[in-house]
Amino acid sequence: MSPKNGHADHSPEKFVAEKIAPEKTMAEKSAPEKHIREKSHNQHHASVQRPEKCRVLAVVNQKGGVGKTTTAVNLATALAAVGMRVLVIDLDPQGNLSTGFGISRAARSVGSYEILFAEHRIEDVAVPTVVPGLSIVTATADLAGAEIQLVTEPRREYRLAEAIARSAVNYDYAIIDCPPSLNMLTLNALTAADSLIVPLQVEFYALEGVSSLMQTVQLVRERFNPRLAIMGVVLTMFDRRNSLSQAVTEDVRKFFGDQVFTTVIPRNVRISEAPSHGKPVLLYDLKSSGARAYMMLASEVIKREALVVAPAYTDEAVHNPSTTKAA
Ligand SMILES: Nc1ncnc2c1ncn2[C@@H]1O[C@H](COP(=O)(O)OP(=O)(O)O)[C@@H](O)[C@H]1O
Ligand SMILES: [Mg+2]
Repeated sequence: MSPKNGHADHSPEKFVAEKIAPEKTMAEKSAPEKHIREKSHNQHHASVQRPEKCRVLAVVNQKGGVGKTTTAVNLATALAAVGMRVLVIDLDPQGNLSTGFGISRAARSVGSYEILFAEHRIEDVAVPTVVPGLSIVTATADLAGAEIQLVTEPRREYRLAEAIARSAVNYDYAIIDCPPSLNMLTLNALTAADSLIVPLQVEFYALEGVSSLMQTVQLVRERFNPRLAIMGVVLTMFDRRNSLSQAVTEDVRKFFGDQVFTTVIPRNVRISEAPSHGKPVLLYDLKSSGARAYMMLASEVIKREALVVAPAYTDEAVHNPSTTKAA
């Protein structure tokens, strides 16, 4: 069911087994939510490398329905599950990220609109989610008007970046879910971000629109945010029964090379059911192929991050120089 993975060391089974569920019991199998909660409260996360300073990741693709929100929800949950302190920011007026964490429209009073217009700090509007260690800045109805309102604001592209810089709370990761358009809200996300994750749905038109996204990235680098990097492209909704899937995957790998994550997210019904239960798939069905794929993606993200940022510390001594091997 799950797509092939390149490195045996980073199989989802191993990752889940080691990081989340080292000693499974029948009770835990039937209650992954409880299990994740307990494990995340447990401070012992072997060699989790925390970034020195909050890393801002934006999940972006101007096409709708490619898996941005699903990736933001589940990558954030997987990072929190291994002990990271995570913030998610819903920057799409549709508010699917907020719904995905079970926060109904009625329950949202303040959110990303308020931080963009400098009325509130992130810590004043962020609320905890069902996932321990994971907070959210929701999207309220006002956000639909923010696009137009921003146009006349001073430093309109920097609103989100400045809000994140003002925050006194020390998150390890802030993950931004972007709207399906290259608009002023998306420009704010790209200006605030250290790195981008681009979900591409495995379909015939997967690469359509990619060149305008890359042009926008280049423009943002030149004008607003020279450090903006592309961490990776993640293939989503891979369906092995669809004969096109393999060809599309090869095309995307040819186009993006190493930038494509090894992990491929399979089409999985549990992923699509989870939002209606107000839960990430990791809580809804930890053993599903979708949950395991997102755990594996998180392990790849952590690995790629380790190449670009110095960790603040690790939770466990990872190196013991006295253990030199005798030849
Ligand atoms: N891997 C997957 N398997 C099955 N359904 C998926 C998968 N990824 C996303 N979906 C479903 O596809 C729809 C679009 O995904 P979403 O993450 O909301 O895309 P976007 O945020 O890019 O618009 C949602 O209904 C979601 O539940
Ligand atoms: Mg979305």
